[in-house]
Amino acid sequence: MSALATIKKRFSPYSYEKVSISFDKIESAFEAARWAPSGYNSQPWRFIFASRDSANFEKLLSFAVAANREWMQDCGAIVVILATTINGHTGKKDASAEYCTGLAVGQMLVEISALDLQAHQIGGFDHEGLSKHLELSDGVLPMAMMAIGSTTEQAKEGRERKPLSTLVSR
Ligand SMILES: Cc1cc2nc3c(=O)[nH]c(=O)nc-3n(C[C@H](O)[C@H](O)[C@H](O)COP(=O)(O)O)c2cc1C
Repeated sequence: MSALATIKKRFSPYSYEKVSISFDKIESAFEAARWAPSGYNSQPWRFIFASRDSANFEKLLSFAVAANREWMQDCGAIVVILATTINGHTGKKDASAEYCTGLAVGQMLVEISALDLQAHQIGGFDHEGLSKHLELSDGVLPMAMMAIGSTTEQAKEGRERKPLSTLVSR
């Protein structure tokens, strides 16, 4: 029961079919994120979801840098990924919050691929502007935005990956 084929099917497309994706359609992807491991089970990941037919879609899109907005505007839904980096109990910095948020998003991506959808994340957005718009509390950081949708695009031939021998010492 390997998940590798589902993982390898994933890529970051630059074109989408302009079909709205409802929350219900990808709820299982958020559920996959929910089951991620985290330091002290702090579960620091938070998400803001906007389908393309919702009022929030255009507003969230406006924070993407122009080059990203160009292809992202056709996606079915946008998800903003947040990390809560201050531990609610101790008031101290949760040193693994960003790492664990990435773990949760990794799981989410596998489920999105299993649903025959694709997702493309961006770091190219106005972090400060988005934080202000969302009125984020101190320590809540916008990590990435994600465009989700159906696409007819195929993964590019020869997508580069470093060989395992570079990544793993044994
Ligand atoms: C945190 C993060 C930030 C990214 N930022 C951007 C971005 O601003 N614009 C963009 O076109 N792609 C962005 N990407 C997509 C990567 O370029 C892409 O994942 C990488 O080239 C590997 O390609 P693949 O996802 O198709 O396998 C980002 C990916 C991640 C995980």
